Amino acid sequence: MDRRTFLTLVGAGAAGVALASCSGGGGPPAPERPWTPRTPVRIPDELHPDDGTFPLAVQRGSTEILPGTTTQTWGVNGSYLGPTLRLRTRDRVTMHVTNGVDEVTTMHWHGMLLPARMDGGPHQPIEPGHTWSPSWTVDNRASTLWYHPHPDGETARQVFNGVAGMIIIDDDDTDSLDLPHDYGIDDIPCILQDRTIEDDGEMPFDTVPNFGQMGTDVLVNGTLGAYLELTRTTVRFRLLNGSNARLYNVGFADDREFTLIATGQGLMPKPARLSRFALGPAERAEIVVAFEPGERVRMTTTSGSERIDQGDLSIMEVRVGDDAQPGTPPPAELPGPAPLVPSAGARVRTFKLQGHDSINGEEMDMSRIDEVVPAGALEIWEVENTVYSHNFHIHGCDFTVLDRNGKPPEPWEAGRKDTVHLPDKSVVRVAVQFRDYTDPAAPYMYHCHILRHEDAGMMGQFLVVEPGTEDSVPRVLPAG
Ligand code: C2O
Ligand code: CU
Ligand code: CU
Repeated sequence: MDRRTFLTLVGAGAAGVALASCSGGGGPPAPERPWTPRTPVRIPDELHPDDGTFPLAVQRGSTEILPGTTTQTWGVNGSYLGPTLRLRTRDRVTMHVTNGVDEVTTMHWHGMLLPARMDGGPHQPIEPGHTWSPSWTVDNRASTLWYHPHPDGETARQVFNGVAGMIIIDDDDTDSLDLPHDYGIDDIPCILQDRTIEDDGEMPFDTVPNFGQMGTDVLVNGTLGAYLELTRTTVRFRLLNGSNARLYNVGFADDREFTLIATGQGLMPKPARLSRFALGPAERAEIVVAFEPGERVRMTTTSGSERIDQGDLSIMEVRVGDDAQPGTPPPAELPGPAPLVPSAGARVRTFKLQGHDSINGEEMDMSRIDEVVPAGALEIWEVENTVYSHNFHIHGCDFTVLDRNGKPPEPWEAGRKDTVHLPDKSVVRVAVQFRDYTDPAAPYMYHCHILRHEDAGMMGQFLVVEPGTEDSVPRVLPAG
């Protein structure tokens, strides 16, 4: 009896099959394979060139994800995922992104505050064999960001194949705080991606136009069945949801409490004690967790209360050494910025997310400017989700979540962000702080970060312009 027949007979008894059938996630049938922690979690190399010049080669490769098999993957400077870019606030940086795959790509710096022409969205295509070299001065606070391709209509597959990496920004605030900061030792990057790896190593990209692709296993930095060995008992995890569609409810199998210190755009105004929190696609969070010497505990995700079932899965097993050294507990105070408070007359823009492919009745059109924002504006964006589950992201800004369905945001959303989760039939209001990189002809994007929805057209474009010129800039971009 082959595996597929076996699965059909077992039916919904297999957790993975249940997940695939009720999530609308589609994709191949789930391998019948219990989760086993058997591979040390990969820690991506750090890239921190003295001259601020980062070589990034997008390439194809093959990767051993399921032991004993190979998977055809894409990566940056390697076969799957890319290095962690270390930057400092006020650094001048230049990226040299070389396209070594045989189709157009781009490279977007998700969460970075920079001129639209450096942003790496669909308007900055990199042809095969070419190199794109954007350059900017780092303006973000200390934070955990990421990079990934953003080509028109093809983002989901390229990210799925493995083109993504973490960006860590440090600043004077993080220097002066006593937070765990030894990369790979007590400051652990965790890129969470769900994937179905077939028994022969295949990782099929699912093109069925439904909710979005979800997989049966969680990879951490490309590691299936990951475990992490610790030599310290107080550890910071930098969690990045690099998945195409899955929402994680992150915590530990024993429901221990931990401290959330940062959201996507940096440190919280004060720490939050939690035992579980939601992390939607493209969101980041930093937590500090205390362990006991010698203990083993699993990091897990639970299904939560979403209409789209997100499933209960193991993420990684944490194994603490018997002689692990104690660390310092997280600080009681954090220097993160206070919430943004829009003025009474702040401009309000409304966005209605419809189905899985449009906003305010329109699909993405690269030649159409949907919104024009005066430089430096602090606005209220009100985003309504009519159906499914979406994760709304805005480029070139940071924001404070004001409320969701009129209620205060969750405790894990108190920090600055650039991406926010919208459960089925919800309305979220965010106070958005735009920067002053003006350009009357190069737009930034806003979109759902469920990548299938983004590709299907749930995306719009906005310009940031000199105040007073909003009505005079052309709303149509020249072709090409
Ligand atoms: Cu993470 Cu518009 O992207
Ligand atoms: Cu982005
Ligand atoms: Cu969506």
